[in-house]
Amino acid sequence: MSAIDLTINDKPVRNDVAPRVHLGDFLRDTHHLTGTHLGCEHGVCGACTVLCDGEPVRSCITFAVACDRRDIRTIEGFDDDELMTRLRRAFSQHHALQCGYCTPGMLITARDIAQRFPDADEARIRLELSGNLCRCTGYMGIVAAIRWVLDDLKLNPLARPVPSVLPAAATSAGNTRATTGFATFDAKRTGPDPGAGAPDAPRGRPIQDAGPSGIAATASDRKGWTAIDDSFVVPFPLDRVWAFMGDLPSVTACLPGAELVEHDVEKVRGRIAIKFGPMSANFAGSARLERDDANHRAVMRGAGQDNISRSRANGDVTYALMPEQGGTHTRVAVTLEYMLQGPLAQFSRSGLVKDFVRRMIADFGARITARLGGDAAPAAEPASSKFNVGAMIWSVVWGRIRRLFGGR
Ligand code: FES
Ligand code: FES
Repeated sequence: MSAIDLTINDKPVRNDVAPRVHLGDFLRDTHHLTGTHLGCEHGVCGACTVLCDGEPVRSCITFAVACDRRDIRTIEGFDDDELMTRLRRAFSQHHALQCGYCTPGMLITARDIAQRFPDADEARIRLELSGNLCRCTGYMGIVAAIRWVLDDLKLNPLARPVPSVLPAAATSAGNTRATTGFATFDAKRTGPDPGAGAPDAPRGRPIQDAGPSGIAATASDRKGWTAIDDSFVVPFPLDRVWAFMGDLPSVTACLPGAELVEHDVEKVRGRIAIKFGPMSANFAGSARLERDDANHRAVMRGAGQDNISRSRANGDVTYALMPEQGGTHTRVAVTLEYMLQGPLAQFSRSGLVKDFVRRMIADFGARITARLGGDAAPAAEPASSKFNVGAMIWSVVWGRIRRLFGGR
């Protein structure tokens, strides 16, 4: 058992909890907050959605121990929330529920949509809602209710504006804070990171400043985008790493699940396969690489679509190289900014997914090191093999547990 301290609906609580207990069971069984419904318990239906530090998460795939020092809000915790009050009224008026099983998750997601997309049209609402399943209503009433609230907000703004849906996580400039388990740090921060290898290494945001080359900064103010900064060190000199990073087939070979279809010097078309529990995605798309040789910075801008789930992804990967240890090593600072739309969108902003992305970046660094060292084994892995997030879950969870106990 582990002791956790957290806030639930503004009330501080402390409990001993077994590591395997998920947040949904913890809320229902320990705190009798049975408004959080459990449907699939696989992260698919969205019935169990609650807010964690202001962001919607699926409580059935969020471990309670991972919520230590977090702020949780369940459907019972919105009584003083004017936006939720309007949504509830609209759901009633527009017959947006029948059995009501999906409704707590629907309402929390609807509130998130209303905050993030005040100008959403019906297509956008349906897209953002596609991670919540309802087996009764046919969605017409739900979409109509959300549209009604969005229209109403334009005529009658909230008396007391709701804090940003990501109060701690997204600034007005749209930067999303990257969270790694129990340590939370601002993506703009340049100081030491508990997860970084070198304690004083520069991180993230500085590479987004437009350099003398004119490579544009990544757009950190894009609504709905998530930004994650990380870095890794490879034991090779900067020039060698820079040359390697310009070789698109070699770089692709270091990305788990990625497959290159065609490329020239700066454009690439390919696929990346990802498996997340019961959900599989196979994104096909293209990207363009802009390189600033003088400053050893580059940005890869890409977009793709998964034809099975119809989810769409847009992403920019910015990386900057810096010499370390007298030039024998190179630090690669990576900023990943992405937006997912469609059924997979609701997975994109949880702390767990951010941890997976960080682990993916670390894995990428290890593969580059192996390739530069002449080890072709990682590239020999079948390109079509999926990047199995499920297989990585234990390493991520274990990493969180180690951080809980102060280890690294
Ligand atoms: Fe959590 Fe279905 S019960 S997503
Ligand atoms: Fe019954 Fe949505 S109202 S599942």
